[in-house]
Amino acid sequence: MVDFATEEEVLAGIQWFNRLFILTYKPNIWGFHAHLIWHCTKPRIVSFEEQYLSDRHLDIGVGNGELLSTCRFPSARPNITLLDLSPVSLGAAARTLARYQPRAVQADCLQPLPLEPASFDSIGLIHMIHCLPGTMEQKAVVFDNCLRVLAPDGVVFGCIIMGQGVRHNWLSRGLLRAYNWRRIMTNLNDSVDDLDQALEARFSRHKVDVVGSVAFFTAWA
Ligand SMILES: C[S@@+](CC[C@H](N)C(=O)[O-])C[C@H]1O[C@@H](n2cnc3c(N)ncnc32)[C@H](O)[C@@H]1O
Repeated sequence: MVDFATEEEVLAGIQWFNRLFILTYKPNIWGFHAHLIWHCTKPRIVSFEEQYLSDRHLDIGVGNGELLSTCRFPSARPNITLLDLSPVSLGAAARTLARYQPRAVQADCLQPLPLEPASFDSIGLIHMIHCLPGTMEQKAVVFDNCLRVLAPDGVVFGCIIMGQGVRHNWLSRGLLRAYNWRRIMTNLNDSVDDLDQALEARFSRHKVDVVGSVAFFTAWA
């Protein structure tokens, strides 16, 4: 039996996504943390993401939208839906991606998604699952929610900063503990093996690769 996160725990995962955080997102996340702490850079994630993006794409946990904006889509006019619990993130990403006229949906990804069944060919969960509360088993509810809105041949992909089963040094381990203590992240006990099992239990096939402190996953319906 899986216990689900409380509303307070879920809201803790978006507490830092305020205007100041969004303004400093690029140097903070894609500069300092990507290069010096997690050892997994933005170009590495962009090239991963571009393999799977479709023209009916749902992005969950959108940050400031910069990463998705850097990616090339299969066509010039993709149909993009952005979903995030934070109105600040959602607004920033919608502005960054305005050239695509995305649909913006404010919702908690741990709850059933307020979207049409089978309406997406790709769903991205980039660097967001470590912001969700609970164990990997509890967080895996997001995969069940994705499966309900994913087309039969669709793909779910993403990456997660992990606490276990990846490379850490004293600095990344120290920051990981601090961020977990402040509840910016909940991932000290998240392991690559647990992710693998959660995907195995739900998808027809999947793969997981590790780069630095980050696990990349791809799973097919
Ligand atoms: C670290 S950011 C990742 C942003 C983006 N994917 C990127 O790589 O730049 C995590 C995002 O997940 C969102 N988020 C956290 N908890 C959420 C939840 N329960 N439901 C939906 N979005 C959530 C945050 O508001 C934030 O925009």
